[in-house]
Amino acid sequence: EKGGWPSFMKKEIAEEPDAVANTLRGRTHDGAVALPELDGVAEALSGINRVLVLGCGTAAYAGMVGKYAIEAWARIPVDVELSHEFRYRDPVLDEHTLVVSVSQSGETMDTLMAVRYAREQGARTLSICNTQGATIPRESDAVLYTHAGPEVAVASTKAFVAQVTALYLLGLHLATLRGTLDADAVAAQLTELEAVPTKIQRVVEASSARIAELAHWMSDTQSVLFLGRHVGFPVALEGALKLKELAYIHAEGFAAGELKHGPIALIEPGQIVFVVVPSPRDPSSLHKKVVSNIQEIRARGARVIAIAELGDVAVVPFADEVIRIPLAAPFFEPLLSVVPLHVFGMELATAKGLDVDQPRNLAKSVTVE
Ligand code: F6R
Repeated sequence: EKGGWPSFMKKEIAEEPDAVANTLRGRTHDGAVALPELDGVAEALSGINRVLVLGCGTAAYAGMVGKYAIEAWARIPVDVELSHEFRYRDPVLDEHTLVVSVSQSGETMDTLMAVRYAREQGARTLSICNTQGATIPRESDAVLYTHAGPEVAVASTKAFVAQVTALYLLGLHLATLRGTLDADAVAAQLTELEAVPTKIQRVVEASSARIAELAHWMSDTQSVLFLGRHVGFPVALEGALKLKELAYIHAEGFAAGELKHGPIALIEPGQIVFVVVPSPRDPSSLHKKVVSNIQEIRARGARVIAIAELGDVAVVPFADEVIRIPLAAPFFEPLLSVVPLHVFGMELATAKGLDVDQPRNLAKSVTVE
């Protein structure tokens, strides 16, 4: 039940901290990952040489975030594919491939059919699912449940952060099995992960009112672009998807590095662009590159709303608005930066007088192909 909340979506965004905390609960022990539910596939997991993540929509974007971390930690190739594309292209896979399906409902027909196909081809299947006893986990070799609690609003929010959390646990588990991270490194990542719920809480508290104001001003907007890089790229895709489905606004997410390969032609005066800015503390040069992307689009008249780390002063002169997220190691930033985008989609739909829980033409669980 809504329990006094104006919408399920608002309630479910407020539950994002718990979705992460509950997905972690009982799965770490003395700085190590404890996933007894994977014991039955332990042997199979030590024999894999490749991971393929399958999902649709938001679940696929969670998979994309997971790819960056799993590859970095476990040093195993990870591909992410949309379930419906995967099964119609005669993919190459065998018993050394771990197929990880990601699905909140566990009933998405495209993903179910993809999992069945993968099993027939001899792949090992692991399901990340939010619904106990759903069809996809029942048909998989193993299941890692997310504990986001029931998600009622059609658009997915808390399930996304729970899916990323589960993929990170899997990545750290594989890294431990493969010996690619030592115990201290695993413990350090888990400490970061355990700090995420409180940080999400701070993002919701600190940014929601301002985002509601921005959304109100933008209620006539026809088009919004989202830019991100590295783990911020799937966050940009997720922000765009929320605007399409909730506010019926044309929205696109781009990898910031792709800008000059085409999308920058879209920039004209007044175009609103959300930019997910990597941390300036990251040793890669991505922060500088994204700040220079912001300068390029600003020079062409874009109105930039940056999502940036607290204390990142370099973006301030170039952004029209800066939404702050707490400091976190790079892999944990998407769990924070996605939250203001969820809030924005909800607030823009609300400002347009739309039903945020039941957008037109959509169903919560897509059980047809
Ligand atoms: C986006 C959304 C959809 C679902 C997709 C997969 O807000 O709700 O894109 O993420 O239909 O659904 P599940 O996770 O149930 O397989």
